[in-house]
Amino acid sequence: MASPQVPPLLLHVLPFLCAVLLLAGTAAARRHAPPQAGAAGQSTYTAPSCREHTASLLDFGGVGDGNTSNTAAFRKAVEHLSQYSGEGGGGGMLYVPAGRWLTAPFNLTSHFTLFLHADAVILGTQDVTQWPVIDPLPSYGRGRDHAGGRYASLVSGSNLTDVVITGNNGTIDGQGATWWSKYKSGKLKYTRGYLIELMHTDGVFISNVTLVNSPAWNIHPVYSRNIVVSGVTILAPTKSPNTDGINPDSCSQVRIEDCYVVSGDDCVAIKSGWDEYGIAVGMPSEHIVVRRLTCVSPTSAVIALGSEMSGGIRDVRAEDITAIGTESAVRIKTAVGRGAYVRDVYARRMRLDGMKRVFWMTGDYKSHPDDGYDKTAVPVVENISYQDVVATGVWKEAARMQGIQGAPFKGICMANVTAEMTKERKVSWNCADVEGVSAGVTPAPCAPLQGTHAGSCPFPTDTLAVDQITVQQCSYSVAPATTSMAGTK
Ligand SMILES: *[C@@H]1O[C@H](CO)[C@@H](O)[C@H](O)[C@H]1NC(C)=O
Ligand SMILES: *[C@@H]1O[C@H](CO)[C@@H](O)[C@H](O)[C@H]1NC(C)=O
Ligand SMILES: *[C@@H]1O[C@H](CO)[C@@H](O)[C@H](O)[C@H]1NC(C)=O
Ligand SMILES: *[C@@H]1O[C@H](CO)[C@@H](O)[C@H](O)[C@H]1NC(C)=O
Ligand SMILES: *[C@@H]1O[C@H](CO)[C@@H](O)[C@H](O)[C@H]1NC(C)=O
Ligand SMILES: *[C@@H]1O[C@H](CO)[C@@H](O)[C@H](O)[C@H]1NC(C)=O
Ligand SMILES: *[C@@H]1O[C@H](CO)[C@@H](O)[C@H](O)[C@H]1NC(C)=O
Repeated sequence: MASPQVPPLLLHVLPFLCAVLLLAGTAAARRHAPPQAGAAGQSTYTAPSCREHTASLLDFGGVGDGNTSNTAAFRKAVEHLSQYSGEGGGGGMLYVPAGRWLTAPFNLTSHFTLFLHADAVILGTQDVTQWPVIDPLPSYGRGRDHAGGRYASLVSGSNLTDVVITGNNGTIDGQGATWWSKYKSGKLKYTRGYLIELMHTDGVFISNVTLVNSPAWNIHPVYSRNIVVSGVTILAPTKSPNTDGINPDSCSQVRIEDCYVVSGDDCVAIKSGWDEYGIAVGMPSEHIVVRRLTCVSPTSAVIALGSEMSGGIRDVRAEDITAIGTESAVRIKTAVGRGAYVRDVYARRMRLDGMKRVFWMTGDYKSHPDDGYDKTAVPVVENISYQDVVATGVWKEAARMQGIQGAPFKGICMANVTAEMTKERKVSWNCADVEGVSAGVTPAPCAPLQGTHAGSCPFPTDTLAVDQITVQQCSYSVAPATTSMAGTK
């Protein structure tokens, strides 16, 4: 099983692995060797692809005391494992043991797995000078917080294939409080970084990890495809600025499922670039499914579409959504100058409690990157469906639906929707420049949405390619010395 090209750093792992296989190489024997820190035995996890080579952060001088910097260790580890990143290289997995691993941003590589032990915490350094400043995204033309560059993301990757970030619910902690206060008091020169950003990447699988206190957005796949985010917990104070959960941006074939998000901004925000920059790049976000999402976001949406949508957003499917104490459900945000479209959006089976409003569409969302936007670039919003929605404790209004004068939002369909208000309101629907049909909606919708239909709204019956990504059982083994005594050398 040991190949002749085994690198020296793995030599202490492999003899151990072989011994385990010889002496206890059955599933029955493995049950006596539970996958705990320091326990002898093989551990398993599931992912779309397994890796032939595993190394521990400790092999590269990592110290998990929460104070020592591990930036060099992470970078050396990924560089070492990148030797397996080519076609046929077998792929590499970096195992992050129990401990608190302080680090500055680092890059991942292809055919690579970042695996976090249940008690592993990757801590983003609060030393702002250690965060590299990188170019703005071409589809934004500038940073979102400030003109010019932006800080890199804590875990980054660009131009990769087949990247996995998983673990037994281990944690990545952005220690964002420093960033939030610097941002609020105008002390940052560049736009804040994210926790995880993968750019130009085909094949991303992020599962069973917890992300806390990001400086800004949590998961940002951009110009990428075939992305699965599954079983991820995202936590940030509900007053923290722009701590969006999962933001697919100019991405195709995305599956977000079984995630739990508490945050200060949208739980999921689908984007595709900003005004003239997004129009020039022209990459839509499309073929996206969000299912079994639970969201708590008092000042933002469960799923936002925009406001940056200048490459277009189409074919978004949301189902089995739960929200508690959230501002609105599926929100559309756009403005003249954005161009492009938001179309073919389908939501069904949403249970919402304690909402400010259920439906919200905004056609005059004002932020622009600069004055160079095209005032004739009018976005098209059409074919938006909502079915089987039960909202309780709605405390402001059922809906605020505001399209664009001269370019109404069309093809809105609602069926079997109840919005139970906390108190009787004279006007619970506020609508302008929208057109659509409804059936079985309580309280009765505004007149422009009272067109009648058969009682159901469309929802696609085909299966997306990203739904065909399946996982397999992978196993790995790291020497006891690398899983115990984290923090010693
Ligand atoms: C994630 O956790 C769930 C529940 O504990 C488990 O069924 C699933 O196999 C895990 N997935 C991965 C990729 O480890
Ligand atoms: C933390 O690290 C800094 C420098 O990296 C060092 O000066 C300091 O002594 C360390 N503190 C503790 C408690 O280890
Ligand atoms: C990370 O990758 C980017 C290019 O994608 C590169 O510019 C940057 O220098 C890399 N950072 C590190 C720390 O290697
Ligand atoms: C990454 O991929 C993009 C899109 O294919 C390409 O334009 C860019 O040059 C690539 N960057 C690198 C460093 O290979
Ligand atoms: C993962 O950890 C988070 C934070 O501690 C917790 O809320 C969540 O329930 C855990 N998920 C699982 C599947 O254990
Ligand atoms: C909107 O949906 C209708 C049927 O439901 C379809 O005929 C029409 O082509 C759709 N529009 C777009 C732009 O997809
Ligand atoms: C209306 O939606 C509720 C909640 O999803 C569901 O239980 C009920 O079966 C739906 N009614 C019809 C007629 O589809």
